[in-house]
Amino acid sequence: KKTALIMAGGKGERFWPKSRISLPKQFLSLTDDGKTMIQLTVERIRPLVELEDVYIATNSLYKNLVLDQLPGIPEENILCEPIGRNTAPCIGLGAVHINTKYDDAVMIVLPSDHLIKNNEVFADTLSRAAEVAQQGENLVTVGITPNYPETGYGYIHYDKETKLGTANAVKQFVEKPDIELAKQYLASGEYLWNSGMFVWKVSTILDNFKKYMQDIYEGLVVIKNSIGTADYESVLKDTFTAMRSESVDYGIMENAENIYSIPGDFGWDDVGSWLAVGRIKKNDENGNVINGNVVSVSSKNCVIEAKDKLIAVVGLEDIVVVDTDDATLVCDKEHAGEIKKILAKLREEG
Ligand code: GDD
Ligand code: MG
Repeated sequence: KKTALIMAGGKGERFWPKSRISLPKQFLSLTDDGKTMIQLTVERIRPLVELEDVYIATNSLYKNLVLDQLPGIPEENILCEPIGRNTAPCIGLGAVHINTKYDDAVMIVLPSDHLIKNNEVFADTLSRAAEVAQQGENLVTVGITPNYPETGYGYIHYDKETKLGTANAVKQFVEKPDIELAKQYLASGEYLWNSGMFVWKVSTILDNFKKYMQDIYEGLVVIKNSIGTADYESVLKDTFTAMRSESVDYGIMENAENIYSIPGDFGWDDVGSWLAVGRIKKNDENGNVINGNVVSVSSKNCVIEAKDKLIAVVGLEDIVVVDTDDATLVCDKEHAGEIKKILAKLREEG
């Protein structure tokens, strides 16, 4: 049995002002087809998993967004976290829910904010990953060939010789190395980026929680025992909130054994900032991505989104302009990664 857990609790701060706490990027459309990122995520896993076996883990703030955007998902599959505790508790919550429905099942864990170019290759890759997961107590990651020393990703040191199916054994998993290490990894040609997609049996991941995150595991057992009872909501609120915040990458993947990696050659973009929009959306003859009522003259390689009023630009290069009802962003592309700093400043100033 194949099931999927889609992680959709991130705040997506880097797409401010279009994304807000009330509307993070997984619920926005950043592509020309008008579909939101979470809708695309569900669509691409559908060849492998029935809708009734697709689970969405998100903050309770976003339950209605999920219901609106994904009307085919059963309401009981929307797992609402009372508070964000990063990906380890999120995955654990998914695992105990799936475990309540099926004795054991393969669980495909997917982020909700990535873009994939080739859906057929994607489905084929995940299907092979599921086979490797099914064969043993294996943790299977989907790896991406790196092309620059990104420090915001996990790195997978894979063993070219040792294989299981089309997956390579993994010697070491390193989450978010510093720039020096990232450069070494890139140069060695022996590393892949972790795409953030994981495939394993529910029993395997629960064993790994027990082994490497005992405290969280104990909370998960308490939650599991309350599923289907009248106490579920209150048990979840208390127990989940009491868990520590930790990512599965640091908490489990850096410590675990039996990790395998399958290369994902399907065109992957983690859509980290407004820069990605310039890569993804249709560019005009001057390399601009323009949306809404915009007039541009002598401008190149800009991303410009108008809301209600006309935006006119002259002589701009590599600039992002995004207008919304109550805020306008004007940002040099080179600094698009620093938008989080604006939010920090806004919070500081109240
Ligand atoms: N439900 C839920 N609850 N989802 C969450 C939470 C949470 O508390 N925190 C994050 N997520 C979701 C995000 O929405 C995203 O879809 C996914 O989990 C990954 O979280 P990120 O916060 O975006 O992680 P990251 O980008 O720092 O690192 C991960 O992804 C990289 C690739 O994009 C790691 O897995 C890296 O190793 C990986 O390279
Ligand atoms: Mg991310």
